[in-house]
Amino acid sequence: MTGEELGRIVVEPPGPRSRELMKRLRAVESSNITFSSDEFPVFFDRGAGANLIDVDGNTYVDLTAAFGVASTGHSNPAVVEAVASQAQSLLHGIGDVHPNEVKVALAEKLCALAPGDGAKRVILSSTGAEAVESAIKTAALATGKPGVLCFTGAYHGLTYGALEVTDRDFFRAPFQRQLGNFATRVPYAYCYRCPLELTYPSCETACLSYVEEAMDGPAGDSIGAVIVEPIQGRGGDVDAPDDWLLDLREICDRRKLLLIADEVYSGFGRTGRWFACEHSGVVPDLLCVGKGMASGFPISACIGRAEVMDAWPASAGEAIHTSTFLGHPTGCAAALASIAQIESLGLVERAATMGAQLEAMLKEAAEEVGPAIGHVRGRGLMWGVELVKDDEQPDGDSAARVVTHALRCGVVVLAGGPASNVLSLSPPLVITREQLEFGVDAIMDALA
Ligand SMILES: Cc1ncc(COP(=O)(O)O)c(C=O)c1O
Repeated sequence: MTGEELGRIVVEPPGPRSRELMKRLRAVESSNITFSSDEFPVFFDRGAGANLIDVDGNTYVDLTAAFGVASTGHSNPAVVEAVASQAQSLLHGIGDVHPNEVKVALAEKLCALAPGDGAKRVILSSTGAEAVESAIKTAALATGKPGVLCFTGAYHGLTYGALEVTDRDFFRAPFQRQLGNFATRVPYAYCYRCPLELTYPSCETACLSYVEEAMDGPAGDSIGAVIVEPIQGRGGDVDAPDDWLLDLREICDRRKLLLIADEVYSGFGRTGRWFACEHSGVVPDLLCVGKGMASGFPISACIGRAEVMDAWPASAGEAIHTSTFLGHPTGCAAALASIAQIESLGLVERAATMGAQLEAMLKEAAEEVGPAIGHVRGRGLMWGVELVKDDEQPDGDSAARVVTHALRCGVVVLAGGPASNVLSLSPPLVITREQLEFGVDAIMDALA
């Protein structure tokens, strides 16, 4: 399998083997995890490049990279080789007691890649949510203030610290009484549904007045940091204007707030820059990364300015913030190999070039489809296609139909956003033009 193939359906998905596996899974997995219906899900067996193959032999073009994870392609051979070789010599170490050399190399690399001059420091972890926990704890230590300003539509993960700054009642309501109550939430720069009903750029980023008001309000004195996704991923691929982020940085500087950029989704080339904040030239104080960093191995990091990160006390034998798999050698090797692939294959530039082609395809599709596509937005290879009803209300049913139809055409696409009405496109950065066309055609076909 080259990874550059188009979709090919040999049995209507989900085929018999997928159905059989789902039956078995339903009996043993918590019912909350895997959604299943007559049309969903398929079980994947293999992957390469931008292709996935299911257990019934169907080949798909993957427009998701599994939520942006498979950045250098599914089972990228260089990453697989690095994992195999590291696993053979030392699969797991004692990361925070007796470290390993690959951890040193990865920490050095992350400090060198993160935007901004000057010394930096890293806290490694396994998931995106943990990287956010590291950032929130760091901010509390560095500022002496527990409060964090966050945004509507934000998704920062579902562990309790991260959930506190994640928006959406769906995730929060069942656990509200166990949350820390340190978050203050204000509207994000969601220009398509502007909270002030203004139009960019003539609005002059007026929605930042919400941030100023929150800081002048009762919680203001306890707020030490702002956490923001430069492009909201799970929130529906909402891209804030560059000058909004720049102006937010200015507010943080003026009010002595730390700026945490959560680039768990948008980092490592996804948007046509190493990190999405580079589009505006904003340098965050703390940067959270994960997902595409290792192309599929669970590893994440919080990288920060040394002056901020040095708020952590020196370890006196027991670290106050760590985890069993921190600095996992196999994960570090995977991340180093993945970063090396991004560099050697020029995937950051490729994301920008292919992204421009995808933008043209999506905008042409929007013209043809008409008002059912309310908004097309994104950067690089991170795009959202917002589907709406005649009255411009979110059309989640239509998005669900597209997802199912596309699967039957051999294309994997997901619906995101609070109303699940945004087709979310974040393919592997190695995807070809033909594969993108194939994917967009399937979406168009579903919408026709
Ligand atoms: C921006 C952002 N932050 C954090 C997370 C949480 O990452 P994880 O699911 O690995 O905990 C996600 C996951 O989608 C994300 O998109």
